Amino acid sequence: SDGKENRGKHQDIYCTKMESMKSQPRDVTGSDLSEQIKAATKDSHVRAENTQLMLNYQKGQITQTQYKLLLCSLYEIYQALEEELDRNADHPAVQPIYFPQELARLESLELDLEHFFGPHWRKRITVPAATHRYTQRLREIGKNSPGLLVAHAYTRYLGDLSGGQVLGKITQKSLGLSGNKGISFFSFPGVTSPNRFKQLYRSRMNSIELTEKKRQEVLDEATRAFEFNIEVFDDLQKMLSITEEASSEKGNNGTSRTEPKTF
Ligand code: HEM
Repeated sequence: SDGKENRGKHQDIYCTKMESMKSQPRDVTGSDLSEQIKAATKDSHVRAENTQLMLNYQKGQITQTQYKLLLCSLYEIYQALEEELDRNADHPAVQPIYFPQELARLESLELDLEHFFGPHWRKRITVPAATHRYTQRLREIGKNSPGLLVAHAYTRYLGDLSGGQVLGKITQKSLGLSGNKGISFFSFPGVTSPNRFKQLYRSRMNSIELTEKKRQEVLDEATRAFEFNIEVFDDLQKMLSITEEASSEKGNNGTSRTEPKTF
């Protein structure tokens, strides 16, 4: 990956600059927001990857029930995120990272939900409490501190353009889907090269002018954004274990018919 080389390069520049400026180094990762946000959320990313839901996902153990439930929460999350981004599109800390053409996910989520739930999918949306807390936070910062939206946009969109690309392939394979049916959420027709787009996005993030205080708030908010995602995954996992218990009590657990469980 390109990450390591770049990190080294920036660090050198940063150290020289720091020496000549004789100021206190903030950390060892360089002064770009894109680097700081990545460093600040590194541990959170590891924890997100290691939630039970994501671990199951990576093993290809995603069922249609699980995926449908995940789509419902993603729908609520992107609805809030994209409405707040749209409303604040002219805000100086939003405008540089506002890419609705390339990134907007709401319409693709609607297509996927319609694929699985049919035309009345809106009535079938169910989300756990954690998803509500996440969307409430998005609405609140959209209203009161739009400068923090970048932390949330970064967390979701760069994630979708990174690990999300693998998860899309896993979903397609696990659920036996053909073409883009049910998985349009994972595809970005407006982005030719996810890696190059991520670079553009990072440079746009780095162009945002922030006071030290605001910068720290953005970094803290990014950690919170990951935390919200982790809580959503944990809640979804709990909902699923209840659903599975209920259906196996009734003796109609879909998976146990084809792959008998061993007790
Ligand atoms: C980046 C994997 C879950 C947010 C990445 C990268 C990989 C990856 C391989 C690229 C790293 C690089 O280019 O240096 C995964 C896997 C996941 C997962 C396998 C779960 C199975 C998540 C989740 C989130 C997330 C749940 C947040 C909701 C991000 C972000 C980046 C990223 C924001 C960009 C980091 C940066 O370059 O600044 N992920 N990820 N990831 N991921 Fe994940």
